[in-house]
Order: sequence, then structure tokens, then C-alpha cells
Amino acid sequence: MQIYENCSLVNHNTFHIEAVAEKLVRIEQEKDILTVLAFNQSLNILGGGSNILFTKNPAGVVCLNQLKGITILEENNDFVRVEFGSGEVWHDCVLWAIDRGYGGIENLSLIPGTIGAAPLQNIGAYGVELKDVFYSLNAIHRSTLEHHTFSKEQCNFGYRESVFKHALKNQYFITSVTLELSKKPVIRTDYGSILDELKAMHCHEPYSIKQVSDAVIRIRSSKLPDPKDIGNAGSFFKNPVISQEHFNQLKNTFHNMPSYPAPDGVKIPAAWLIEQCGWKGFKEGNYGVHPKQALVLVNYGGSSGEQLYHLSERIIQSVLDKFQITLHREVNVW
Ligand code: EPU
Repeated sequence: MQIYENCSLVNHNTFHIEAVAEKLVRIEQEKDILTVLAFNQSLNILGGGSNILFTKNPAGVVCLNQLKGITILEENNDFVRVEFGSGEVWHDCVLWAIDRGYGGIENLSLIPGTIGAAPLQNIGAYGVELKDVFYSLNAIHRSTLEHHTFSKEQCNFGYRESVFKHALKNQYFITSVTLELSKKPVIRTDYGSILDELKAMHCHEPYSIKQVSDAVIRIRSSKLPDPKDIGNAGSFFKNPVISQEHFNQLKNTFHNMPSYPAPDGVKIPAAWLIEQCGWKGFKEGNYGVHPKQALVLVNYGGSSGEQLYHLSERIIQSVLDKFQITLHREVNVW
């Protein structure tokens, strides 16, 4: 365990916002978190910092999760259950699985962040969500220090949702996540432009998980800014779900409004709504809306969290005025 005082967090959040942690603790082993929790239960836990907007300096101790390790727990001819330390980098785990021919997470290639953050918002992309491969997770209760194992059902996953964002918010420190990966992968190319990309890559059926991963990497790199170059946290908002009745009304005016069926209504791409309000490519000072994906707010360098937050408020208001739809942030505001 290492402790740093008055530590800059600029390299610990993908928005590259300047914020300072009074105390930053690197959690390298499970006993480190027990030690820190014994003295302080109101911790701020930081993984890859890829879904956070700092609008002020975090109060109290910031824990940088560095719990590593990849262990095969169980396997047969069909599947393998793998336990990943929660501080492992998500994309490294995807590459680890692909190297061994284990399928299930190739469509989730290049998502920034750590394994431990993935269940919080049930990360998803290109037709696959974490819940599709999730088996269980281990966590430590922040006040009782007890160890708990959560099954998939107990995590209550939904679209960008889990129990850890609601009833159990800030109550647990996730130490490891176990995924069930397939030794006989089912290739998922039905979402969006994956098939077109595979063809552009001159790949032929049957496609391999490596080819699907490469296609996803190519699509993401062409549409989403790399946080190494431009500060951002991926999708800033969730795609809203509206009632069928509301959708029918809007469709009368906005004939080309894209939509997807959702269990409790109709899902509308937030990017489309934001673009229709004229925000795509908007730039003011050092921040704005990405020119290629209207769902992504960007810090071109030196902007503050408050400025980006204020921009998100303006976007929410204009979408509300034009479509009577309230956008909700996917990014956690600290
Ligand atoms: N669209 C626009 N304008 C844009 C971008 C998109 O009108 O600037 C419309 C198009 O109609 C397009 C539709 O939105 O067909 C959907 O776009 P896209 O396939 O890019 O997906 P998305 O709904 O905008 C979601 C996830 C992304 C994930 C992609 C691909 C959310 C909040 N976002 O975006 O996740 O990569 O699907 O599966 O669900 C992230 O969470 O950080 C993230 C990038």
C-alpha cells in the first residue's frame, strides 16, 4: 500500500480534469483495503477514472484500485470461469481472453476502465452487455468489513444499471469479478456496422473472436476520441427510454427519429437528440461536444469539471425543450 498526499488526479481521470486528492492510497492487496476501511469508511474509489467528472476536489481519501490477478477457477469443454482482480484494465482482460480463444467479451473491446467498474454500470457495446458473461463478484462491505459474493441475479443488472448504483450505492468495495467465457464462442455481428467493418477488413466467415474484436476496435477508434489525445469519458448520457405513446407523438413531427424496442418502452439514441438540438461539434473555449459522436463531451485541454457539467445542463435543457425527454447522465459526477 502506498499513500500520497495532495496528489494530482489529472492522470487518473480520462477527462483530464485538474483535481487534487488530499490523500491518495494505492490499493495493491486485499488487506490494504481492509486497513483503509478500518479507519475511514467514506472512501472515493477510483478505477480507471473513465466514467467520472470531477467538479471539485474529492473530500477525504481516494483509493486507487490496483488489485490485479487473473485466475481460472473452473473449466470444461464448453466454458471457463475466470476471476479477474478488480483493478485489472478491462481491455487487457479482453485481449487476454481472445489470446486463449475464450469468447464472450470481444464486442466489448477497447472500453476504457477497470474490471471492477464494469459491473457498476453493466458496461455494454455492439450488442453485448457485461451481464451476458457475468458469473459473480466478490466485495467487501465498507462498514462491517465482511466479504460477500454476489450472483448475477443479486447484481440486478439493467441497461447501464446495477444494484451498486442504487440500493447498495457506495456500500461495497468490489475486489474481483468472475466471468464465464465460452470455449465455443458464438460470434455476434448483428449490431450496427460490425459486419460492414469485417468486410472492409477482407475477413470471411466463419469470423473469429479476434476479427470481431479488431472490427470493434476500428469502429470505436474512428468514432470515439481516444482519451490519451482528447479528454472524455465516452457516452456522457444514457440513451433514454420513452413510452410508446410519447414516441408516437414525436414521430408525427420527427419522421426520421431512430429508435430501438426496449422492455419498458422505446429507446431513443441520445446522440441523435443532442445532434438535432445543434450540439454536435459545438466548441466553446476548451470544451465541447465531439464532432463525430454527439454523446461524448470533450475537454480539449484545461477546461474545468464545472464547465463540462454546465454544458451538460444546457444540453439536457435543450433536449427537454425540443423533445420533452429528460436525459440522464451516465457519467458519475464527483
Ligand atoms: N447517432 C446520431 N448522432 C451521432 C451518433 C449517433 O444521430 O452523433 C445516432 C444514429 O442514429 C445511430 C444511433 O445514434 O444509428 C446509435 O449510435 P451508436 O451505434 O454510435 O450508439 P450509441 O447509442 O450512441 C451506445 C453506447 C456506447 C457504445 C455504442 C455501440 C450508450 C449510452 N452508449 O452508443 O457506449 O459504444 O452504443 O454499442 O448506451 C459508452 O458507454 O461510453 C459508450 C461509448
